Amino acid sequence: MPVISFANAKGGAGKTTAALLLATELAHQGFRVTVIDGDPQRWISQWAEVSGKVRNIEVISEVTVASLACHLREMAGVTDYFIIDLAGARDALVTTAIGLSDHVMIPVQGSAMDAKGAAQILDLLATMKERANLHIAHSVVLTRVTSMVTTKALLTIKGLLAARGVNVLDTPIGERIAFKELFETGGTLHTLDPQKVSNVDKAKDNAGAFAREVLRLMPTKITRSPISRIFGMGRHAA
Ligand SMILES: Nc1ncnc2c1ncn2[C@@H]1O[C@H](COP(=O)(O)OP(=O)(O)O)[C@@H](O)[C@H]1O
Ligand SMILES: [Mg+2]
Repeated sequence: MPVISFANAKGGAGKTTAALLLATELAHQGFRVTVIDGDPQRWISQWAEVSGKVRNIEVISEVTVASLACHLREMAGVTDYFIIDLAGARDALVTTAIGLSDHVMIPVQGSAMDAKGAAQILDLLATMKERANLHIAHSVVLTRVTSMVTTKALLTIKGLLAARGVNVLDTPIGERIAFKELFETGGTLHTLDPQKVSNVDKAKDNAGAFAREVLRLMPTKITRSPISRIFGMGRHAA
């Protein structure tokens, strides 16, 4: 059960949004997802409170450096994918979570390209590799990309990062009202009312493509839990 964490030392980079999109898409595909909310601001926990039970998703709040590994151990048997949302910091919890991750996703805003917070995480990963011989796979995911950001500009960013040996996902996450709306209404893109929120279909396509690309990066292929596959329901479905 792979552990995917979202890290960027800067707040507002789009970590929580990307983490929630991945969690809800994987859950929609029938995977059992445990989201660990490692951000003291508790956005994912608040989303879970607004949402009520969401099929295939379990959210764990109040995580500490000491408890993180215990949560991963305890939930391992009932989880296909762990997703860890982290604070916009480079503190002990961020370092611990990265150390326990199979893949670190580093969201970077495509428009502003303020990559300082991302660079801090890339430096941390490099230090872990050098000092502890710990090689943790990681990728940059461009977020909040608008039509104003040209394909050429995105390719330039990708090229710059590739020159440093950093993988950049082919699927950027767009700037979309529907993504923001999830935190207001709770639930997933698949339960949003298309009458009330614009372009839900495009949002679903984008989030789905993002989740599929993340899955392709995972070293082991997880078979969806038979119960969710056959009955379309998870452990907590009524
Ligand atoms: N793809 C997106 N489309 C629209 N709004 C977004 C998107 N990603 C982030 N935001 C908004 O930007 C702000 C910061 O995003 P958030 O995901 O909370 O970043 P972080 O977790 O890195 O602090 C929030 O108000 C969020 O709604
Ligand atoms: Mg956040």
